[in-house]
Amino acid sequence: MIRPAILLALGSACFAASVPTFSGEVYPILRAKCQGCHQKGEIAPMAFIDYAGTRPWAKAIREAVLKGTMPPWHADPKASAHFHNDRSLTQAEVRAITAWVDAGAPEGSPKSYPAPEKASGGWTLGKPDLVFKIPNMKVPASGDIPYTFVAFPTELKQDTWVYAAEWKIDQRSVVHHVNAFTRPPGSSYVAGYPALQFFVPTLTQRRVGRPNEGAFERRELLVGYEPGYRAIPWGPTQGKLIKAGSDIVVEAHYNASGKETIDASEIGIYFAKEPPKERVVTLSVQNLGFVIPPGDANYKSDASVTFDAPVKVVSVQPHMHLRGKAMRLRAVLPDGKAEPLIDVPRYDFNWQTTYFLKQPLTVPAGGKIECFAWFDNSPNNKFNPDPKRPVSWGDQSYEEMHIGFTEVAFDAKIDADKILAVEKKVAAR
Ligand code: HEC
Repeated sequence: MIRPAILLALGSACFAASVPTFSGEVYPILRAKCQGCHQKGEIAPMAFIDYAGTRPWAKAIREAVLKGTMPPWHADPKASAHFHNDRSLTQAEVRAITAWVDAGAPEGSPKSYPAPEKASGGWTLGKPDLVFKIPNMKVPASGDIPYTFVAFPTELKQDTWVYAAEWKIDQRSVVHHVNAFTRPPGSSYVAGYPALQFFVPTLTQRRVGRPNEGAFERRELLVGYEPGYRAIPWGPTQGKLIKAGSDIVVEAHYNASGKETIDASEIGIYFAKEPPKERVVTLSVQNLGFVIPPGDANYKSDASVTFDAPVKVVSVQPHMHLRGKAMRLRAVLPDGKAEPLIDVPRYDFNWQTTYFLKQPLTVPAGGKIECFAWFDNSPNNKFNPDPKRPVSWGDQSYEEMHIGFTEVAFDAKIDADKILAVEKKVAAR
């Protein structure tokens, strides 16, 4: 007769062969899909870089990957393009993680685990050619912090092509998001404030423009940072253009963290070796004119741009505020055929993800990009600050925006202000 204890041992020995272990199957998944945020100095509160630090979170990890809340990724794969920076888990990865937790989260044979792919704190793209540093922004412990601006003269003597730009964030606990724009000489965009000093312009001051000023003569988005950000170069044949004598203007959105914090985040710029074939610009496919009625649980807003020149769509980033519910972007080709870009069925204001297309989508002249947004202004939206108020466009989180930021590449010889057939004045980000 075999005693039960031996049976048990035999049973678990047979079983062990098919059970995923931390050192076997699970660690490589964490390294590829989680450590970008779950390592020291990044935005997630705990590090998943070894067994001891991960084991206590096993149950929470199982729940998060089954519910799909982690990794944060909001594009519906069935109705979106394929993305280069897709961090969602495959079915097989979800199965491996859940089977591991269900089996008691064993380590397997312990080993020294390879360090996270990109240790934080440095430039992920290497040493930049030019660096601009925020001059020690003092973020108070509590209270609302207005959008804060600072301008840096680039002192570039000639038009300069850049193949990449990267944000190196100093204090992730207080930086909600930051955008760096280029401002060519003569631009009306927040002109007249002294360089290298913080300023807080009113919305009216920020909207000042000159009649007939081209959108890209005024300003152009260089690079933005948002939670989950990863620097991605535009590529060997593509780049952004910084005109001689331009300034870099930073718009920073800080959040108080409970502790006074000094932030000195930096922007690094990488010069192209030679002028690229294609220029990249960021467009805003937006509707400025909506009014969401009080209590409306499913208000829809439409926006579109039509192209006068052929472009390739490089990336998309849905942007709404707290009443944002869902967003969809698609390209409509001149023959009427629609190509999906992205479908975000459950929008989350906390995650301003930029989605980079694996295969840039070509849109010929005469084609367009459409952007549909849905808002929930009902009391059932738990983020809704006030369901009794009609809501229109504005900067603050309690106001709304409807923007599909869209990066497009086009023949570098074409004037950026000539690529759009309509809405030239409002389309630059
Ligand atoms: C883009 C950044 C990012 C990535 C990638 C990411 N996380 Fe997170 N994770 C966070 C942040 C920030 C928090 C804390 C705030 C929150 O809960 O949203 C968090 C919280 C968690 C929590 C605790 C909260 C909960 O949901 O119970 C778990 C568990 C978790 N993550 C698991 C994972 C796993 C497993 C992966 C990879 C498969 C992963 N995360 C990838 C940013 C990320």
